[in-house]
Amino acid sequence: MRVLVIGRGGREHALVWKLAQSPRVDRLFCAPGNAGTAMQAENVPIEFTPNDFDRLIRFAKKERVGLVVIGPEEPLAHGLTDAMQKERLRVFGPTKNAAQLEASKVFAKNLMRQADVPTAEFRTFDHPQPARLYIESREYPLVVKADGLAAGKGVIVCSTRQEALNAIDRIMIREEFGAAVGRQVVVEKRLEGQELSLFSLVSGRTILPLPPTQDHKAVYDGDQGPNTGGMGAYCPAPIATPELLQQIEEQVLVPTVSAMKHVRMSFKGLLFTGLMLTSQGPRVLEYNVRFGDPETQPLLMRLKSDLLDLLEAVVDETLGEIDESRIEWDPRPAVCVVLCSQGYPGPYVKGRVIQGLEDVGRMTDVQVFHAGTRREGDVILTDGGRVLGVTALGDTLADAKRRAYEAVSRISFLGMHYRKDIADKALLPPPAPPPPTPPALEAL
Ligand SMILES: Nc1ncnc2c1ncn2[C@@H]1O[C@H](COP(=O)(O)OP(=O)(O)O)[C@@H](O)[C@H]1O
Ligand SMILES: [Mg+2]
Repeated sequence: MRVLVIGRGGREHALVWKLAQSPRVDRLFCAPGNAGTAMQAENVPIEFTPNDFDRLIRFAKKERVGLVVIGPEEPLAHGLTDAMQKERLRVFGPTKNAAQLEASKVFAKNLMRQADVPTAEFRTFDHPQPARLYIESREYPLVVKADGLAAGKGVIVCSTRQEALNAIDRIMIREEFGAAVGRQVVVEKRLEGQELSLFSLVSGRTILPLPPTQDHKAVYDGDQGPNTGGMGAYCPAPIATPELLQQIEEQVLVPTVSAMKHVRMSFKGLLFTGLMLTSQGPRVLEYNVRFGDPETQPLLMRLKSDLLDLLEAVVDETLGEIDESRIEWDPRPAVCVVLCSQGYPGPYVKGRVIQGLEDVGRMTDVQVFHAGTRREGDVILTDGGRVLGVTALGDTLADAKRRAYEAVSRISFLGMHYRKDIADKALLPPPAPPPPTPPALEAL
């Protein structure tokens, strides 16, 4: 079968790398891909743009592609799945309607409310003034979220009321994330806890959760600094006990999938639930409708079964026939460390020569997934904010971390930066609570 993967990031390189191992894949394309995907697939120089599905569709038909796998959220939100299905192409990825779970935070929160899925207390607004009044009336810290897709930048986690009021201005008045994206907002209670990413294959009524992972959003060690697309991840996440996963399946996954069916937007594809594990139990922060990046990198590093079988089972609605216990996972944990360009997540520099890739290529159980890279002659250059995802398996999580950083130490490019503490959340005891505040002087 011929398979076309759409996208150009670390997630797509991991998908391509895994699909290339399938004995049933005889030609693999990636549009547009990067210098990494070019090692296992044929890169096709077609960029997705919201108003031009035709070039991708024509390519897929001309090459008799048997399965299209859509990596990023943007084409899904714009209905590339629907357009391709109309042309009788087989597509892994939800329809435009179902993709609203990610593309509209207002839609997602309303669905959670309707389906009684545990999530942060919230209200939605389409005018700034009522949003401001609501903020004034809250006695707890808030998070303000622009409704639409904002490449991970439209969520403002606030510590003070003033910050939340400013967030309304930034989203709705100054339209920093775009006019359509900021037409509505979600204002919700700020929750405390560890975050968990849980991916599930979903088709019809069948839900197949994959091993849990944890991402690291903030740019600096100790979760400091601004949020990024993700600085590293590990799989499995020991915090997600079988009991917790069972609870999430019952309280979150089953009601979400049946609510989508109920509103005639049946979900088919990969459902990503971003959860906060609070002292009161798990709460959904958001849904995504595609594989997460970088979590997909350590996840697929551990998958031993044929990924094509799983993706096709979703598309053909035969997922229910797959025996979960027959899906083989490497028992060893995997850790992925993302190497970034100077300046990222702000404006960053591109075009720097990457050194050490061949050296790392000789290490066993280490895989360097490319994100923002391109080849020029014999050299590989940086070409994005997140450049590489260095992923390693190890006998223990600590060992996987050590091996990933060992590989990282062999790679360099000018201005390269990365977090040094990926997986520490699961390896180190939690930080001690702050000492009690001393009684005020007057009280003594
Ligand atoms: N209610 C909340 N309480 C605390 N932190 C939150 C809350 N909602 C979101 N966050 C933080 O903001 C990040 C981004 O929010 P999310 O809803 O996942 O949107 P997106 O990924 O589209 O930016 C989360 O990963 C989490 O760290
Ligand atoms: Mg998120």
